[in-house]
Amino acid sequence: MKVTVVGAGNVGATCANVLATREVANEVVLLDIKEGYAEGKALDIWETSPINLYDTRTIGSTNDYSKTAGSEVVVITSGLPRKPGMSRDDLIATNAGIVKSVTENVIKHSPDAKIIVVSNPLDVMTYAAYLTANKASNKVFGMAGILDTARYRSFLAEALDVSPKDIQAVLMGGHGDTMVPLPRYTTVGGIPVTELIDADKLEAIVNRTKKGGGEIVNLLGTSAWYAPGAAAAQMVEAIVKDQKRVFPVCAWLTGEYGLSDIYLGVPVKLGKNGIEKIIELDLNDDEKELLATSAKAVREVMDVLDNMNKVNA
Ligand code: NAI
Ligand code: 2OP
Repeated sequence: MKVTVVGAGNVGATCANVLATREVANEVVLLDIKEGYAEGKALDIWETSPINLYDTRTIGSTNDYSKTAGSEVVVITSGLPRKPGMSRDDLIATNAGIVKSVTENVIKHSPDAKIIVVSNPLDVMTYAAYLTANKASNKVFGMAGILDTARYRSFLAEALDVSPKDIQAVLMGGHGDTMVPLPRYTTVGGIPVTELIDADKLEAIVNRTKKGGGEIVNLLGTSAWYAPGAAAAQMVEAIVKDQKRVFPVCAWLTGEYGLSDIYLGVPVKLGKNGIEKIIELDLNDDEKELLATSAKAVREVMDVLDNMNKVNA
């Protein structure tokens, strides 16, 4: 069973490494447009197999999609980070072009693949892949919520001095400052987190989570890759092992939460068919308002893409 990761940069290579180390697939194909880059990363990962004791073969490819043929899942991490002097619209246009051409190639060789988009801006790049893929929306979705909840859970574990394994949380909305961590749905070993931490400390952690991507960019000068790569690999594992895991995922909404025709982070059940169910929580008025604000922010960026597509039509 084969999984493809497009983009052999920081996030893509990390994702491929986690998939191989955990033996999630028999074969992981890493593809990049840069000559020799994916081959080099795939070979380096394969050379860890005798040390880390796994059998998964990692294969590199410079833009040759025939090597990706028959993939069960494809993770798209190809895209540019925002550079100085580049507007948000420039970034959308550039990355949407990359995501579109990658998706066309992916579909040609793996028509039944489930597609996980990672490229930013996440919600609208997932939309771009969906518009191109011409397949059911439960097969095209984005990774952000697992990363954002992982940040939230790791900050809580540190503050409470408990194992991160025992912290469960839900987070909704777009992948940006308007994301909506939900303390009411956060537990520590089954205990509501609100019983264990002061409200002001919890609020500070929620705010740090919302800016979690920026915190890493400020430290590294580029965006994160260990946690994003591992998060995407966890989604792949849930699909190929049909685990029916419940994760926050960027999904196409058709009336859920009163929202339609929008990609937004919501809790879902993930299994062999991709998104097998969107779970609707009974949000209170404050939570609904935060989600509506986040949806509005995502919609504005989707509109930018729609307008670009109209001009180019
Ligand atoms: P990177 O620059 O290290 O890697 C991107 C790779 O994509 C490069 O190797 C580049 O050669 C390749 N690429 C560009 N155009 C391509 C094409 N047409 N076909 C195949 N490969 C192509 O960037 P990094 O750090 O790996 O980030 C990748 C993307 O993921 C960025 O858009 C970033 O903003 C996003 N990201 C999203 C997160 C999320 O939570 N959804 C978290 C972290 C990053
Ligand atoms: C992150 O959240 C920038 O999306 C990237 O790390």
